[in-house]
Amino acid sequence: MTADLSPIDTAKYVAAYRAADMVENGMRVGLGTGSTAAWLVRRLGERVQQEGLRIKGVPTSTRTAQLAREVGIEVVSLDQAGWLDLTIDGADEFDGDLNLIKGGGGAHLQEKIVATASDQMVVIADAGKEVETLGAFPLPVEVIPFGWQTTRTLIEEVLDTMDVLGTNSALRMNGEAPFVTDEGNHILDLHLQRIGNARQMALVLNQVPGVVENGLFVDICDKVVVGYGDGRVELRDINAGTVELDQFLGGAKDNLFSDFSD
Ligand code: 5RP
Repeated sequence: MTADLSPIDTAKYVAAYRAADMVENGMRVGLGTGSTAAWLVRRLGERVQQEGLRIKGVPTSTRTAQLAREVGIEVVSLDQAGWLDLTIDGADEFDGDLNLIKGGGGAHLQEKIVATASDQMVVIADAGKEVETLGAFPLPVEVIPFGWQTTRTLIEEVLDTMDVLGTNSALRMNGEAPFVTDEGNHILDLHLQRIGNARQMALVLNQVPGVVENGLFVDICDKVVVGYGDGRVELRDINAGTVELDQFLGGAKDNLFSDFSD
């Protein structure tokens, strides 16, 4: 099956596989959303079945909850778990300080709550997600449906005062209708091209009435597992300042996830 994976999917796969090794018996684990996080959930399910791994998983979306149940992970709500040992999630962009843009899958509200309620957040990503400065990926901002056009106008006014290269925004669509998040909200994707000050941007956006949460994760992520198309994996720990390298070989991967598609 590995031979069928594109380099980018191989990269996501090996990052997820490596991160799954960080999960230990008895942990309460935040389960991210997206194609990379789906590989992780599948691998954890396999560990539950094969090794008897005992964990409680807190999903960050209905999609992830469904997959987690399908693969045999015990699913609990964040309120039931209370606090988490570890959250593992994907990202749309990460920079050298492990600040992130998330929300490409429309789940950044729950993802941010879950990651913030965890001792540790680990991001799993293919190497193409690394950037010098955040902002090439459109920044998702979750807004309530009431008066969303006014909220957009207010956001664009704020953006005029910020260190960015673009100020256009677009309502995310799902076919002909606006995309609706798990919380019943809409998403505005901000085409900023470059975010000069991510910390300031994250704070300022959340002050706009109608904004529920933006997709900037500043000082939340502790480690990133970067996957490469040739099977290499790099584990970077921002607090310890360490980098570990690993190589995943074909054999183990070939037996996994053979019927999986996100
Ligand atoms: C969902 C997210 C995802 O983690 C992000 O979009 C990355 O997705 P993928 O792993 O499919 O590239 O933030 O809200």
